[in-house]
Amino acid sequence: MNAAMKSRSSLTAFNTHWCAADYLGDYYSTVEQDERITLRFLCTVASRLPVTGPLLDFGCGPTVHHLLPFAGRTTEFHLADYLPENLEAVRQWRDHADSSHDWSEFAEYVLACESGKPPQPADVQDRLERTRANIKVLLHGDARQADPLGASIPRGYSAVLCCFCPDSITTDPVEWHRYMLNIAGLVAPGGWLAVAALGRANGYTVGNHRFPSSGVRVADVCRVFSEARFCANLTQIWSEPAEEVSRHGFSEVVLALAQRE
Ligand SMILES: C[S@@+](CC[C@H](N)C(=O)[O-])C[C@H]1O[C@@H](n2cnc3c(N)ncnc32)[C@H](O)[C@@H]1O
Repeated sequence: MNAAMKSRSSLTAFNTHWCAADYLGDYYSTVEQDERITLRFLCTVASRLPVTGPLLDFGCGPTVHHLLPFAGRTTEFHLADYLPENLEAVRQWRDHADSSHDWSEFAEYVLACESGKPPQPADVQDRLERTRANIKVLLHGDARQADPLGASIPRGYSAVLCCFCPDSITTDPVEWHRYMLNIAGLVAPGGWLAVAALGRANGYTVGNHRFPSSGVRVADVCRVFSEARFCANLTQIWSEPAEEVSRHGFSEVVLALAQRE
């Protein structure tokens, strides 16, 4: 398959086969190993790095849980995704729609990471409500575009999360590299970017469908950060095994944190 065909097949997968409810059911019924790894990482980021304006979660999907560690660090979350269906799931959760996903277990996990002890139910509710209240802007985003949020967002963000997005939309490492550079361009000077990606996988399953992954390795992320001119001495990139979730099609998570010069 040549690159253009690969790109078309990746897009088809999202435009025709993505189902937010299947994704939430398969990956977010409980806090699995890949998310324990990712949430621990994000709790550390939230405890160490400043958020001096709105925080952007790029490629949020139908999820909000990666924002939970940052609920007290800013008053404004912006969430972007390619599919309106995913943004609608986020809007429904924010607006307390009856059918929306239950993120309580994820809030419990985040609070336990932060304090080292099981949280009280009232604290869980408080974290969920603060997260809801912070969700101010839902945006169409397309990682394939040089300006993934379009011209309507004129300035960069001081804080950007990007979890399982560019690595989960193509099998082509060259495309992945370009999408990462596009997303890195959303970070303001001095701002930071936290990334979680499927490690060394060529796909992952959602319902009965298989979606693409680009086989990301630590060295690949290193090359992107260097080309995007992030500070080498502030960059951290590593991988962790996630064999408990191998039934989804991957068994490693790559984590990365970088600050723009
Ligand atoms: C595996 S999901 C990750 C969702 C969420 N961040 C998480 O951690 O569960 C990949 C997401 O990429 C989004 N996506 C697909 N094509 C995209 C594109 N061209 N630009 C931005 N996002 C895209 C999909 O809609 C989907 O929500």
